Amino acid sequence: MAVAVKALSARYNSVGRAAPGDLAARLGFFLPRDRFKVAFALRPLLPWTGPPLRVLDLGAGLGASALGVYAVLPVARATLVDSDPAALKIAASLLDDPPVTHVADASAFTPRSGEGPWDLIVASQVLSELDPLPAGAGEAAQLRRAERHGDLVDRWMSWLSPSGALLLVEPALSDRSRHLHAVRDRLRTSWPPLAPCTHTSVCPARAIPGEWCHERRLLQLEPEVEAVARYAGLARESLDFSYLLLTRDRRTAPGAATHRVVSDRLDTRGKSEFFLCGAFAGGAMDRRKVQRLERHRTPANAAWDRLKRGDRVAIPELELRVTPETTVEPCDG
Ligand SMILES: C[S@@+](CC[C@H](N)C(=O)[O-])C[C@H]1O[C@@H](n2cnc3c(N)ncnc32)[C@H](O)[C@@H]1O
Repeated sequence: MAVAVKALSARYNSVGRAAPGDLAARLGFFLPRDRFKVAFALRPLLPWTGPPLRVLDLGAGLGASALGVYAVLPVARATLVDSDPAALKIAASLLDDPPVTHVADASAFTPRSGEGPWDLIVASQVLSELDPLPAGAGEAAQLRRAERHGDLVDRWMSWLSPSGALLLVEPALSDRSRHLHAVRDRLRTSWPPLAPCTHTSVCPARAIPGEWCHERRLLQLEPEVEAVARYAGLARESLDFSYLLLTRDRRTAPGAATHRVVSDRLDTRGKSEFFLCGAFAGGAMDRRKVQRLERHRTPANAAWDRLKRGDRVAIPELELRVTPETTVEPCDG
């Protein structure tokens, strides 16, 4: 199993998609691990107080994303769409309650007459597989692809109910995440992100060649899945991914968050630093390395010690340093 998982991981990193013979590795490792990506990324919709949801899972594969939805939200009905009938057959055996429809055809991304609207549409690790560019494709081709995918997401948004949400998840690899940032920028004025961004300006990471923004969540895998990860040389304690959550009613994140933590903590003697993305003093929307000296720790900024990648935080009038007077207030509890 570990050998097959290692080979598939290499294939995802290079050609970007699985081969027909990879179903066992997908079922034995990627499905039990990757379902947490969707479960984590849906947290901005929680706690859920509305009725059970009608869910459309595009490029559902073996059902990892649908399982992630089921883990955190009540589901009235789910429709799983994929061009691969063998994958959907496995999904069917994993998910049969509440009512689930499985649809395999080549025109998976066109509207289905008589179906919808949907309260939640998920396309997890799917954009990566759509019209991939040849290696070495230039910036203009990449932008055209982001435009095409933006048009596609526009169409998916039109299938949602008035308060519905759409979740895109992509691998945390630099090129896949930067593509998602470009799609976000194409959509940001018509569909401002509910998460992960705290603003609707152009993505600051895109302006820096080779830079990208991704989520990292701590994870405890089941022992047998953890063993496969160990032997395949894959991360075992955390799950990396990129995501974008949009709503039909254009909700943005509640609360007063000014920044999002977009790096791990960088600790050196006497100081700790993070890259933060958001509004800096003077109104500049940017991504900057911010430091707090250990001797500047005060009750007002003590929450700096608890921050981690992905957190939203309110730090008014921030420049490059958290001073003894700076207030640091986490916005995610
Ligand atoms: C990497 S898998 C992702 C599966 C699942 N969503 C997840 O997050 O684990 C991508 C899936 O997209 C499907 N897919 C790719 N292109 C498609 C298309 N044009 N129409 C329908 N499904 C497609 C593939 O068959 C594959 O099952």
